[in-house]
Amino acid sequence: MKIAVLPGDGIGKEVTAEAVKVLRSLAGAGLAFEMTEAIIGDEGIQTVGDALPAKTLELCRAVDAILLGGTGVPADEHRPPSEGAGNGLLRLRRALSLYANFRPVLLYPELLDASTLKPEVVEGVDMLILRELNGDLYFGEPRGISVNAAGEREGINTMRYTESEIDRIAHVGFKAAQKRGRKLCSVDKSNVLETMMLWREVVTRVGKDYTDVELTHLYVDAASMALIRNPRQFDVIVTGNVFGDILSDAAAMLAGSIGMLPSASLGVGNKGLYEPVHGTAPDIAGRNIANPLAAILSVALMLRYSFSLENEAARVEAAVRSVLAAGYRTADIMRPGCRRVSTSEMGDAVVAVLVAGSSRQAVC
Ligand code: IPM
Ligand code: MG
Repeated sequence: MKIAVLPGDGIGKEVTAEAVKVLRSLAGAGLAFEMTEAIIGDEGIQTVGDALPAKTLELCRAVDAILLGGTGVPADEHRPPSEGAGNGLLRLRRALSLYANFRPVLLYPELLDASTLKPEVVEGVDMLILRELNGDLYFGEPRGISVNAAGEREGINTMRYTESEIDRIAHVGFKAAQKRGRKLCSVDKSNVLETMMLWREVVTRVGKDYTDVELTHLYVDAASMALIRNPRQFDVIVTGNVFGDILSDAAAMLAGSIGMLPSASLGVGNKGLYEPVHGTAPDIAGRNIANPLAAILSVALMLRYSFSLENEAARVEAAVRSVLAAGYRTADIMRPGCRRVSTSEMGDAVVAVLVAGSSRQAVC
């Protein structure tokens, strides 16, 4: 199993190191992971002047799966989006046609009071946000900042989706719902935007092939409220690139911390890109305090989706659950009475459970 490891910027490096530890601990007994590290993001810009170096893209084309930490640095604020560190990641997703971004939002019962929301609201949250990743405002042309006819500068981005792009993500959404609670909520803004009128029309049409899935539609503004008000109503949410980006950060709080949210980006075939939903958190980078569990849970998604290793995926998830039950907490999910651990100690604790095959003793 060939894996490209792209730690990227900021805490991306720290959390990826822990995810790699977990993968290493699973190797043996017929499992071999060949991991090759490469640069992306600001490191790419600093080293070869490109956020997605040609060598990195070449490696990513050749492997079965990609494990990524994060891209983005404060200096991006002064760079055009097309030259920023995050652009390396966007180009990678697009170059490999990884259009279906799975962002499962699961609240571990141990983290019931880590959320800023009331426990009775978030208890039992278990949903999947499926974000389209190759279209929308992120890639639509024309785009840019130019001087208009009146001599004033204006910024332009284009919200754009083709029928086939909507069709393929809708199918992924319905299939995912069939494997879960058979409910799909499509989120759009079809009351205002033509792109989204087409979105709703195509999703509705695709839905006729999936009579066993209950399809609903919400406007994105209403959906953002519903997520906070009554999140348990959701099973699978399918939405576009921009709305999915925003809603998944909001939904992170349902799981206690964005440090708990993994993601998988898939296209046609089994190749996937696995990364935590969180960013590079420059404010805490280099201090060994970030939560590595989103990165570690992304490894579980990799095992499941790219390598069909369901047993191993479930073992990693169970190990995460077990260290949480034992009271291990990084700063973002800390609560009085628990054992505060660093990024690397959290990674070590997960590995220890995987190696010993047993859980730790509860401390809180
Ligand atoms: C995400 C991130 C990225 C995005 C950034 C880093 C470009 O916010 O994966 O959610 O906007 O897609
Ligand atoms: Mg985001």
